[in-house]
Amino acid sequence: MGGGGDRGASVGTVIGIFLNENQTLVRILYLVHIIGIVGAFGPTFLYQRMHKAGETAAMAALHMKFVFPSLVILWVAGMGMAGINKFSLASTYWITATIVLWIAAMAVSWFFIKPAVSDTSPEASKKLNMGVGITHLIFVLSLWLMIFKPFVDNTYAFND
Ligand code: HEM
Repeated sequence: MGGGGDRGASVGTVIGIFLNENQTLVRILYLVHIIGIVGAFGPTFLYQRMHKAGETAAMAALHMKFVFPSLVILWVAGMGMAGINKFSLASTYWITATIVLWIAAMAVSWFFIKPAVSDTSPEASKKLNMGVGITHLIFVLSLWLMIFKPFVDNTYAFND
């Protein structure tokens, strides 16, 4: 079981992944990126209903232990893909714009949604509605930027 040849082959596979010979690492990051997007934006579609039902503890846990970490994970995976493929972030505008939107999503999550999750007052509901609305707008805009890759002449720009 597991002779030297097998071990050599599997070490080769691992090195191959990290040398980006076949884009396997990029594909793994891609998968993580998409899972991160589901985790970061999916729960926000439940927030208003949970808030009305007074599920504040569950919302607070979901937001801090799931949504925030997912936002960070999707960013790490996105930057990883861009880094490995040497995309120039300064001139690949669809990525630059999405990073700006991601920063806005983090700020909205922290300043609008987080304070409202454990507070059921009408003012908190208003803040939550605004935060969720902006987050959904960011979600759709980011999807459009990432999928359509607009600013055509600059679809991809690379670092040397
Ligand atoms: C935090 C900043 C982000 C960075 C740095 C980033 C970076 C990337 C990169 C480098 C790719 C691979 C593109 C390719 O090679 O074709 C990608 C794909 C993708 N990203 Fe992001 N991303 C970010 C945020 C987001 C957000 C917030 C969303 C959605 C809400 C999103 C949705 C997607 C989708 C759907 C794809 C697949 C598109 C395709 O391959 O054609 N990304 N992202």
